Amino acid sequence: MRVLVVGGGGREHALAWALARDPSVDEVLAAPGNAGIEDVARCVPVEADDIDGIVALAEAESIDLTVVGPEAPLVAGLVDALHARGRLAFGPTAAGARIEGSKAWAKELLLRHEIPTGRAEITDDVTRAVMLLDAFEPPWVIKADGLAAGKGVVVTAHRQEAVAAIESMLVDRIFGSAGDRILIEEHLEGREVSVLALTDGEAVVPLEPAQDYKRALDGDRGPNTGGMGAHSPVPEVDHDLAKRIAAEILEAAVAALAAEGVPYRGVLYAGLMLTAEGPRILEFNARFGDPEAQAVLPRLASGPAEALLACAQGRLDRGTVTWLPEACVTVVLASGGYPGKYRTGVPIDGLEEAGKTDRVAVFHAGTARRDGRVVTAGGRVLAVSALGVDLAEARARAYRAASLISFEGLHRREDIALEAARG
Ligand code: AMP
Ligand code: GLY
Repeated sequence: MRVLVVGGGGREHALAWALARDPSVDEVLAAPGNAGIEDVARCVPVEADDIDGIVALAEAESIDLTVVGPEAPLVAGLVDALHARGRLAFGPTAAGARIEGSKAWAKELLLRHEIPTGRAEITDDVTRAVMLLDAFEPPWVIKADGLAAGKGVVVTAHRQEAVAAIESMLVDRIFGSAGDRILIEEHLEGREVSVLALTDGEAVVPLEPAQDYKRALDGDRGPNTGGMGAHSPVPEVDHDLAKRIAAEILEAAVAALAAEGVPYRGVLYAGLMLTAEGPRILEFNARFGDPEAQAVLPRLASGPAEALLACAQGRLDRGTVTWLPEACVTVVLASGGYPGKYRTGVPIDGLEEAGKTDRVAVFHAGTARRDGRVVTAGGRVLAVSALGVDLAEARARAYRAASLISFEGLHRREDIALEAARG
């Protein structure tokens, strides 16, 4: 099988890495890839959101399956464009990707089908939005409807900040049309977990749960980021809770989509809050999580190609996904200043040594090659994933390998999986 991975971040490196090790895969291509993906795939300089370019590449290279990493091309209809040319793709069509592309649409779908989620109001009117604050208890949760590069959510206990957030979205239009409508949501309390599932629109195969660390600093302080680390499994999600999440949320959502004429094929990512009343949906994504993918994919015992192809072809079978008994911990190495301003082009040392460590994979997120050296090229630079017999061993191994890597301004959290590893 010839596979094309679309994207160039840590998630796509993990996908390309897992696919390249799969005996049923003959060649992996990546567009555009990055300096690490080059080690496992042939990188072609076509941007992930260049829909015509990706379709042309899939045709020219006789690609059997195109695996789409990021949300933007999904929402923009890359999978539809591939289908129009008779090409198989892993990922939902634009209609399905609305589950991530429009938080208002997703929320209405959940409420219509009574899938567990927080109460919310949706409006495009600034006066009404401000009045609606009184219908909710602080802290207030204000969300832009559309894609806002992970910055579209404001959670604040200060009324003035809530009003400012509403005005910035609806009046100043800081997110452009993505903020044409906003949601004001009930604030949910509890622990956040990510549970992803593969689906062909009917069958739903949950993946092992993952814990993401969104804040920049230890102790869950500092600004929200794309994710500073992850681990899998998640001790709080035991067998019974996992079954409940699969039935009440993942299967229910796929069935709801199908009932509304949207057959959803690909990966459905449920961002969940484990509340005292049970699991509640915070958000859906139409793609693998980053860095969740880097902590979940190394735990696969089966090759991923057959399962991804089966999703695309509508013949997914539970037996196609099997797991290693080991745990995985992923530590992200970021540029100093991220998620704010940071430098790029900084040379990275120690990659080879770290990569040689047993049971460790160093996934590149934001890197480039310059004059034969690997340099930083993004906010999140690398994700170091390690397997171990339990979270404690995986954690020790991940930090040991991560410590071999250095670059000026490197920032990482020191507490990834710390609490979970203590049991
Ligand atoms: P998102 O960008 O949608 O992942 O949201 C960013 C973060 O905001 C989430 O990871 C949660 O920590 C928080 N958040 C979003 N919605 C809610 C909510 N309804 N209640 C509490 N926290 C929320
Ligand atoms: N790690 C959060 C996300 O991928 O959306």
